[in-house]
Amino acid sequence: MTLDDYILSHITPEDDYLYRLYRATNLHLLRPRMASGHLQGQLLRMLTQMIRPRTVLEIGTYSGYSALCMASGMTEEGCLYTFEINDEQEDFTRPWLENAPYAPRIEMIVGDVFELLPAMNLHFDMVFIDANKRQYADYYELVMRFLNPGGYILADNTLWDGHVVEPEYENDAQTQGIRRFNRLVAADPRVENVILPLRDGLTVIRHKGI
Ligand SMILES: C[S@@+](CC[C@H](N)C(=O)[O-])C[C@H]1O[C@@H](n2cnc3c(N)ncnc32)[C@H](O)[C@@H]1O
Repeated sequence: MTLDDYILSHITPEDDYLYRLYRATNLHLLRPRMASGHLQGQLLRMLTQMIRPRTVLEIGTYSGYSALCMASGMTEEGCLYTFEINDEQEDFTRPWLENAPYAPRIEMIVGDVFELLPAMNLHFDMVFIDANKRQYADYYELVMRFLNPGGYILADNTLWDGHVVEPEYENDAQTQGIRRFNRLVAADPRVENVILPLRDGLTVIRHKGI
């Protein structure tokens, strides 16, 4: 038994709807590894329960797995806005979101978050960044404009399979994007943060309200 198997057999089991979504993601979509999966999904759900956000922004819906995990941790009054730039993803994802028990809490927006978010006049208690690695620093600058004081940003893949410390990835555009983001956050006096070495790295950032 691997450590990963051990962990998965000692955490709260995946609910049946998410299990079926993850299977369908693997059967029908390209690049299914992009979906969060149960370990990270359960963490996202519990962080959402702890933070108790009324409004959540997700950048990067893909099959909807992480959106459903976060929505399951929200209260009924909450609303999660999830942005997906790839319109070919909509036919698969929208029915999974709309048929979920938490459907009324989720709004899927198809389009580029950089184009659409500024005009929406929304503010967020929690943000999950999980999209194009080259643009992480730009997402960060964008969402800091709309994050409430005391709010949280969670950012996925911030260790990028360990490439952030590997000299041979010095010129890789995605690695450079993640490193730029990590430097920006670490140097930003408005926030405090921690990097969890879970899966591919998950950064938790809190807006100090200054
Ligand atoms: C890693 S996947 C998201 C996985 C999902 N959050 C999960 O954990 O199940 C990243 C997604 O971000 C989308 N994306 C990339 N750039 C975007 C942008 N500027 N606005 C909205 N979505 C974007 C991609 O099309 C892709 O489907």
